[in-house]
Amino acid sequence: MSCENRVILVVDDEKNIRRTLRMVLEGEGYAVEDEPTAERALERFSEVAPDLVIMDVKLPGRDGIWALEEIASGKYGRPPAPVIMVSGHATFADAVRATRLGAYDFFEKPIDRQRVLVSVRNALERWAMVRDLSRLRAAEQERFEMIGASEVMGKLFDQIAKVAPTRGRVLITGESGTGKELIARAIHANSPRAEGPFIKVNCAAIPPELIESELFGHEKGAFTGAVGRKRGLFELASGGTILLDEIGDMSLSAQAKVLRTLQNGEINRVGSERSIEVDVRVIAATNQSLEDLVAQGGFREDLFFRLNVVPLRSPPLRERAGDVPLMVERFVEQLCRENGFRPKAVTDEVLTVLQGYRWPGNVRELKNLCERLVIMSDEEITLEDLPPEVREVSPRSISPAAYDHMRLKEFREEMERTFIVHKLKAHGWNISRTAAVLGIERTNLHKKLKAFGISRKDR
Ligand SMILES: Nc1ncnc2c1ncn2[C@@H]1O[C@H](COP(=O)(O)OP(=O)(O)OP(=O)(O)O)[C@@H](O)[C@H]1O
Ligand SMILES: [Mg+2]
Repeated sequence: MSCENRVILVVDDEKNIRRTLRMVLEGEGYAVEDEPTAERALERFSEVAPDLVIMDVKLPGRDGIWALEEIASGKYGRPPAPVIMVSGHATFADAVRATRLGAYDFFEKPIDRQRVLVSVRNALERWAMVRDLSRLRAAEQERFEMIGASEVMGKLFDQIAKVAPTRGRVLITGESGTGKELIARAIHANSPRAEGPFIKVNCAAIPPELIESELFGHEKGAFTGAVGRKRGLFELASGGTILLDEIGDMSLSAQAKVLRTLQNGEINRVGSERSIEVDVRVIAATNQSLEDLVAQGGFREDLFFRLNVVPLRSPPLRERAGDVPLMVERFVEQLCRENGFRPKAVTDEVLTVLQGYRWPGNVRELKNLCERLVIMSDEEITLEDLPPEVREVSPRSISPAAYDHMRLKEFREEMERTFIVHKLKAHGWNISRTAAVLGIERTNLHKKLKAFGISRKDR
């Protein structure tokens, strides 16, 4: 680890000690700042954000223990930087107290050069690790955060909060890209199993002949290719949660085994008679209708009932269009940060257009588009940056600047036109359905389209 750029703040009221420490530390390549009092030290702490503090216990005014507590509370940055305490006439109790308050190390004067350097090196090494870890955690948290302020999402959050602490099995259904995996992760994270493993199995991606050994493991020689004994995903998920993703694609024979596990909480490795108990919470997700699959004989009805204890529906993005601007702003901000760009602004027109788009790929499509916009646009994301398929059928919006030249009739027609285009998009340009939700006849809708000059190519 290089010492360059490592800033150490030395706090002592004795000038000699400050000078000695500065010499020793600068000799090793550290940058040193020093202060004679606790109060000044905290001010300096905010300015320079040191990587380490070496501080005397006894100081004029507030003492070092007070400053240690302030720093350890995280008020000056989280995670708090390590603090090494020094004392001229330390009692054992002082040392214990300082350590309990979070001091990294404690030593007595006179200061031993070697001892200081070893302690400093260790503290900085650990600090670097703690900081990396906390950055990783924050990034991880952000990646799995569910954004949404709409009413449907509010209801979903309530349902998640209710079911999470229980052992209840959950079946999550919803179109692709709506956030089914995020829901499953949220349930796990808010359950008593949060510290346990979360294991996701993509049932569609595993070849049918391998799925049983993937889920339940196998003994050595159970089949050709089973060179060693292997633990299955159910075993690995013990104490935690398993997400059976795309469960509709699971073979009937694998379904039978899963059913058995759900019934008695046991698994058998392939090629073994011995049952192993597993403690796993099962969440299943699918973008197909399992009811339909059951009716067609592609899914076991008994398994369906076992999985579907608490059904959760992940709504398509077009049903929560109000969340779009919020999501765009968050995604753009995150993506700018990740790419090391300065924050980019998004114009109101863009937000309006994106809100009116149908989003067949749901949040995944929105997130991908945001990434593309962040990469390809200049300082500001404007209408011109949007791909044609998104811009194509955006309703015209009327800006107050245009009011001046409008009569009520024109304004009304503009609003009507905007409304109709919006509904058409929401229903995939299906004329009958749109007419039905508008509460007018098909023929009437056709007339309006003609009168307003609305066509699919419309912008
Ligand atoms: N409410 C949300 N807030 C923030 N990000 C979201 C939200 N919903 C989904 N996402 C993001 O959209 C992407 C797709 O989500 P996810 O993988 O959970 O969808 P899915 O329903 O499991 O899709 P599929 O059926 O294709 O597996 C992910 O990057 C996820 O982080
Ligand atoms: Mg998924």
